[in-house]
Amino acid sequence: MLIYACTIAALLCFLLHIIHRRQRCRYPLLIDYPILGMFPPILLNLTWIHDFVTELLKQHEGKTADFMGPWFTKMDFIVTSNPINVRHITIKKFHNYVKGPEFREIFHAFGGAMVANDSETWKHARSLLSPLVKQTSFESFYQKTTRKKLHSALLPLLDQVQKQGMVVDLQEVFNRFTFDNICSTILGFDPGSLSIDFPKIATEIAFNEAEECMFYRHIVPRCVWKLQEWLQIGPEKKMSEACKTFDQFLYSCIESKRKELKENDPLLDDQAHVDNDMPLLTTLIREEKGKKEYDNKFIRDSVYGFLEGGRSTIASALTWFFWLVAKNPLVEAKILEEIKDNFGDEKKLVYLHADMYETMRLYPPVPFERKQAIEADVLPSGHHVHANAMILFSLYAMGRFEDVWGEDCLEFKPERWISDRGGIVYVPSYKFFSFNAGPRTCLGKDMSLVQLKMVAATILRNYRIHPVEVHVPIPSYSIILLMKDGFKVRVTKREP
Ligand code: HEM
Repeated sequence: MLIYACTIAALLCFLLHIIHRRQRCRYPLLIDYPILGMFPPILLNLTWIHDFVTELLKQHEGKTADFMGPWFTKMDFIVTSNPINVRHITIKKFHNYVKGPEFREIFHAFGGAMVANDSETWKHARSLLSPLVKQTSFESFYQKTTRKKLHSALLPLLDQVQKQGMVVDLQEVFNRFTFDNICSTILGFDPGSLSIDFPKIATEIAFNEAEECMFYRHIVPRCVWKLQEWLQIGPEKKMSEACKTFDQFLYSCIESKRKELKENDPLLDDQAHVDNDMPLLTTLIREEKGKKEYDNKFIRDSVYGFLEGGRSTIASALTWFFWLVAKNPLVEAKILEEIKDNFGDEKKLVYLHADMYETMRLYPPVPFERKQAIEADVLPSGHHVHANAMILFSLYAMGRFEDVWGEDCLEFKPERWISDRGGIVYVPSYKFFSFNAGPRTCLGKDMSLVQLKMVAATILRNYRIHPVEVHVPIPSYSIILLMKDGFKVRVTKREP
């Protein structure tokens, strides 16, 4: 009975949402309705959900609000964008705030390795994987792969777009670029999705569909999506198919890498030249030498976490960066000035670094995160947290508070990141939270920044990007902040 009530309520709200989708923040107040709780205003504002949550938190003391979901659906949350709360939860009381079983259910595609796990399982996976991706040889392999893909696929594609005067979806280009790139560095296999005919690659589509479904599971009651999963309808059907597709892909990559290394591993041959350019999968399998073999499920879950972590996050940052730069010709001029003298040495691109931080302050690729409390607690903002309470962080809202970032917080101003001495201003991670904070800080942060600067500098040096549409892009319904309708642009050659 409850399932029917919730399904009908969800459908009604969804219909209303469709009607009002183009109207920004039409219902800024969170009204707590009988039975449905505060669910209707959320669904009605789904199109601009991140702006809606920002406005809402601005109206609440301590940038923190209680959100009541429909009755009996376990959708009550404490939503916060308060940096001191973030520090408390992610650093000071790290052990009291976990991902929790609900998180694992929603993000079950991540499986049992690092990203979706807690305590010993997470600790074990992180202590095994972190040194592997932090070693210089892996970082330099990651950079080499990016550079190669840029010159062999991305620039030639833009060249064709420019010569033919085509309109291209730059977000789709970046999605494909990062997919090929991350598969090459993690699995040692380039699926070749980035080419002018935009081939349909089932695994790439599966990753996108899984991300959308993980978002969907946040906005409907658990009983609704569970029912859909059981009946295999709607987004849940797509989710099951997506899981099958990327599982097949990942397990076959693991099996063939095991076979390849068994038959011919240069490490076992003293005379052979050992290549330092090793994908993570190879390193992981080699790690097993002399120990018990990791089971394929653990390897699958580990590599899945990296593929997810390093794919659409980078595509999102690049897309918003190019959109912001196109709107700010003075910023573009400054970047060009900087790359004139320092092209090829990403460490020297301080202004471009500031641009990337500023992009991710306003448009964090992961716009929200969640945690669950183990024991009752009181947050620094004074809000009470009961045992098992869910906490949602709005990273998007965090970059938009005047008292934190100044009166010009809504402006794109990379200069705010440049210190008087010409370096990057230090901002603690619980304030600039785009890469998470504390022991679970993103493992790919440094690698990402090098990659982002490399791609941005190379494109800007060679081409001018002209957006086709002038309106503010609508964010997609996904756990990653992408543009719902893509980012359509024309490209012209930049004369030296
Ligand atoms: C602009 C690019 C990126 C952004 C904004 C970003 C952001 C984040 C955030 C917010 C988290 C925390 C997620 C959570 O706990 O729910 C995270 C975790 C993680 N990221 Fe990134 N990421 C980026 C790129 C990368 C890359 C390139 C890699 C790897 C190649 C990577 C690997 C990971 C991993 C493995 C974790 C899990 C860490 C743990 O749970 O201990 N990320 N990232």
